[in-house]
Amino acid sequence: MKDFLLLVLLLTEASRCSSSRCELGCDCRGDLKFTICSRALFTALPGRVPPTTELLDLSDNSISVIPERSFTKNRKLRILLLQNNNISAVEDGGFSQLEFLQKLDLSWNRISTLTEGFSIGLAFLRELQLAHNHLTSLDSRSFLHLDGLQRLNLTSNSIHTIQVRSFSSMSMLRQLHLEDNQLTSLRSGIFSMLRSLEVLNLAGNQISQTEEGVFKPLTSMTLLNLANNRMSTVHFKTFLSIHTYSTHILLERNPWNCECDLQRVFKKLRSIQRLFLDDYYNLTCKEPPVLEDYRLTDVDSGLCLAETVTVLIITVTVVITVLAAMLMGERKRKKKKKGKHWTQQGELSDESDY
Ligand SMILES: *[C@@H]1O[C@H](CO)[C@@H](O)[C@H](O)[C@H]1NC(C)=O
Ligand SMILES: *[C@@H]1O[C@H](CO)[C@@H](O)[C@H](O)[C@H]1NC(C)=O
Ligand SMILES: *[C@@H]1O[C@H](CO)[C@@H](O)[C@H](O)[C@H]1NC(C)=O
Repeated sequence: MKDFLLLVLLLTEASRCSSSRCELGCDCRGDLKFTICSRALFTALPGRVPPTTELLDLSDNSISVIPERSFTKNRKLRILLLQNNNISAVEDGGFSQLEFLQKLDLSWNRISTLTEGFSIGLAFLRELQLAHNHLTSLDSRSFLHLDGLQRLNLTSNSIHTIQVRSFSSMSMLRQLHLEDNQLTSLRSGIFSMLRSLEVLNLAGNQISQTEEGVFKPLTSMTLLNLANNRMSTVHFKTFLSIHTYSTHILLERNPWNCECDLQRVFKKLRSIQRLFLDDYYNLTCKEPPVLEDYRLTDVDSGLCLAETVTVLIITVTVVITVLAAMLMGERKRKKKKKGKHWTQQGELSDESDY
């Protein structure tokens, strides 16, 4: 009985102790390594998170600001989940001192700018999820301190501008997801430091132009997704400059202008051993109007036909002209010769008369 009482006493003490370290609405488990505060109706970061926490899940709340130095008591964090909140501002140094943090999920928030202070202290972050936010442009400060980042997900923002040095610190980056944004062109130099990049996903933008050397620095790229953009033509050199071991390129759902030039460029591209146009058989025409919705592969043999016919006509015309000229020349020569013969004969007859 005495033992039992002691046990009860110890248990209540222990639970009081842990509850004093675990915020109401959170669930602290696994030797206080996991703190789960998902759907706790928080509008601000909780004050009491055990310092031993390695995974902190704050997803599906209504937190709107990450104040400066928010996590100084939680330096052991490895995974921080903040998706599906109402975050519009990360104050400078909001995540500073999280030197063990490997994954940060900020997707489904309302972040519209990334200041230089956003990434301070996140040198060992490997994965950053920022999909479904309100970002419109990226510049050299956006990801300044993310030297170790390997995966960056910027899907479904409103990014229309990427300044040239935006990704310049990320030589370890392996995946860059930029699908469903508002990019219209790709300037050469924007990917210049991404020598480890394997996956570049640009599907679902409005890209119609790509500068010639833009993909050249991406010497590790295995997948380039340009599906569902506004490309009507391709420049051979843009893709020829991809110097990789092997790269798969996706190009479907673009408004291709099915002309002889396009057919020629694709023919050349498909003959390059290291490039794989995986969805080539799915490419459809938008222009000219008579070919709308036709598959490129169904019409491509005819695309250069008109041109071939023109060339043929020109050739035939030239040949005929030349032949005609030669014939005329020959005739003239003969006439002349005949005349000469005549006079010669005349002379001869004169001679014979003589
Ligand atoms: C989100 O934050 C804004 C201010 O930034 C506020 O007006 C709004 O009520 C918040 N929404 C929710 C669901 O908390
Ligand atoms: C990027 O984010 C979107 C939305 O959260 C998600 O569906 C997708 O799986 C993510 N992609 C990667 C590679 O993390
Ligand atoms: C081509 O389109 C079909 C139907 O839309 C789809 O199932 C298939 O996966 C596509 N092929 C490639 C290589 O994308």
